[in-house]
Amino acid sequence: MPEKTISQTRDITAEEAAEKIAHLSAEIKKHNILYHAEDAPEISDAEFDALFKKLQELEAAFPELIKEDSPTQSVGAVPEDSGFTKVKHLVPMLSLSNAFSEEDVTDFLARIRRFLNMPEAAEIEIFAEPKIDGLSCSLLYEGSVLTRAATRGDGETGEDITKNVRTLKDVPLHLPADAPERIEIRGEIYMRKDDFLKLNETQAATGGKIFANPRNAAPGSLRQLDASVTAARPLKIFVYALGETSIPVSDTQSGIHARLKDWGFPVTENTALCRGTKEMMRYYNEIQAARGELPYDIDGIVYKVDDLALQQRLGFVSRAPRWATAHKFPAEQAETVLEDIVIQVGRTGTLTPVAKLAPVNVGGVIVSRATLHNEDEIARKDIRAGDHVVIQRAGDVIPQVVRVDTAKRRADSVPFAMPEICPECHSPALRKEGEVARRCTGGLACPAQAVERLKHFVSKSAFDIDGLGSKIVEEFYRDGIVEKPGDIFRLPKRADALKLETREGWGALSVKNLMAAIGKKQRIPLDRFIYALGIRQVGQATAKRLAASYGSFENWADSMKAAQDKESDAYANLLNIEDIGAAVAEDILMFFADAQQQEILEDLVAQLDKIEDHVSTADMSSPVAGKTVVFTGKLETMGRSEAKAKAESLGARVSGSVSAKTDFVICGADAGSKRKKAEDLGVTILSEEEWAELIAG
Ligand code: IVH
Repeated sequence: MPEKTISQTRDITAEEAAEKIAHLSAEIKKHNILYHAEDAPEISDAEFDALFKKLQELEAAFPELIKEDSPTQSVGAVPEDSGFTKVKHLVPMLSLSNAFSEEDVTDFLARIRRFLNMPEAAEIEIFAEPKIDGLSCSLLYEGSVLTRAATRGDGETGEDITKNVRTLKDVPLHLPADAPERIEIRGEIYMRKDDFLKLNETQAATGGKIFANPRNAAPGSLRQLDASVTAARPLKIFVYALGETSIPVSDTQSGIHARLKDWGFPVTENTALCRGTKEMMRYYNEIQAARGELPYDIDGIVYKVDDLALQQRLGFVSRAPRWATAHKFPAEQAETVLEDIVIQVGRTGTLTPVAKLAPVNVGGVIVSRATLHNEDEIARKDIRAGDHVVIQRAGDVIPQVVRVDTAKRRADSVPFAMPEICPECHSPALRKEGEVARRCTGGLACPAQAVERLKHFVSKSAFDIDGLGSKIVEEFYRDGIVEKPGDIFRLPKRADALKLETREGWGALSVKNLMAAIGKKQRIPLDRFIYALGIRQVGQATAKRLAASYGSFENWADSMKAAQDKESDAYANLLNIEDIGAAVAEDILMFFADAQQQEILEDLVAQLDKIEDHVSTADMSSPVAGKTVVFTGKLETMGRSEAKAKAESLGARVSGSVSAKTDFVICGADAGSKRKKAEDLGVTILSEEEWAELIAG
């Protein structure tokens, strides 16, 4: 009984409680780190839960002793297995219109005056502040307590990220007594530039995901089902607006800003009240000049009418307020020397040229590489090794080369020539007609392709093997321990013989954990399995579609072998899957036609316990469940994709061609050869109305 526990707990003095709380908090934090970061738990889950519960009980009895950084406030230890709950915003979260020039700023003011019927000379006070490049977040406080935090989502509905946001040290969990009973505060969650670079270093060392820029790192860090991952990421917030509030907080935007600051929220310091275009432009230029020195990325200025009564009158147009606009900065640029052009070989053999740059500061981030995309791009811009180049970072850490300063080009410079042999395996690198990419033909004999394929295989959306990150895959490949996916699953049997625990950075416990993690992945859902194979052009969405269409691995593999014949029904059915055109089909069929790939695939399948069949979410009680249907001719009441989606949701399999296995052919107007074939084979033919009646039950 909770009451009893609390009253019993209350029997101790506050001083004793404080001591116990501090002790328990420290213990829990230690075990959290041992468990999550070091993969080396020292106590059982049940013992951990007992410590956690004891702390919760003490805090419930002595709420005045709850510390902001208490483990109970960050739910650090409790991994979640459900998705995020959707939340409807009380007031929609809108976006902002954009301004790009002084003229746009003048227009913004003129529009406001016109709407309010103000004379041209009338001055409107504008509150200006930096536009933070992060992701927006809504914080709801009820009775002074943070009760809900949500992402913007589509503006109407977002995701509940309360647990994650509670781990941000920047976000007060309580408001002072003078705050309204109910208030929604909005702001931008972001990552500092230096924290971002540090995070990427750690991610690289642990084989985690590398983020392109601070703006991308923020949502990835926040939308974590396990809030302890968020807690370990250096996220911060700036607040800048209100949603719903039970009583007004101020009558100006600048007043809101001041109140939010008083309540302990981080707000941007460098704001200004401006009158007229001139003052707004002066502020814009000032902030733009200081942009590189700011510790966080900003992508412009937000101007807001300061008077809230005017804001109210101005209202909204479609998805954006009339009383605010975002004045965007151009992308940040810098000049440097392009020292060399190096070639990277990717998972599917694509050769990507990358510029090695003399390190240069671009808007506060030191940059030493830039992507050059492909050989056509290099030729178009005539980029050569040794050139002085202007590079640009649009928030991104991997920037682009904008142009070459040919006036500074050395006389002995030569145009870049794309290698025609793979720099990694020396196989021919060919460029197919009509394609921009040049590809290594070495296949899995090319070490670069083989290791990239393995990295993809173990990645988060594929087999997701805990403790087997990119770095370890590279080491294992280099040392000949893992050369193909099947080898991973043989590791548990070979771990002793390979003396894995004697490797640098390894111990008996980490080996044991890795082997356990590998064992857990011997069962895998079909869609993940297909994605993991790394077939060119088969991403997660296509893998899901293939899994849903074929149901089982055996059926998929058999069908792909049959589909090698372009006249076959199997081929027609493959093309009939949404988003699979001839080019994607070709890549899938090539994978199944390649003897080496098939050998690797069979070896892998033999190592697994089970590739789990796709579980259909379709309504199997329908009269068409399990039937094969073909739509042909022009349908009147619905589009082809709609008809197909509807049939599939009722458990039917939709095929592109008629065969003896077809159950129904639904004919719209002008049905031709398929109708004829159905008649010849004696397959039931339905009109659109008959089909509608049938599925209506
Ligand atoms: S005010 C009615 N102020 O920019 C919209 N937004 O492009 C009120 N943003 O969704 C927004 N810094 O996520 C405001 N100082 C700032 C901002 C800011 C960044 C974001 C916000 C908004 C997006 C629109």
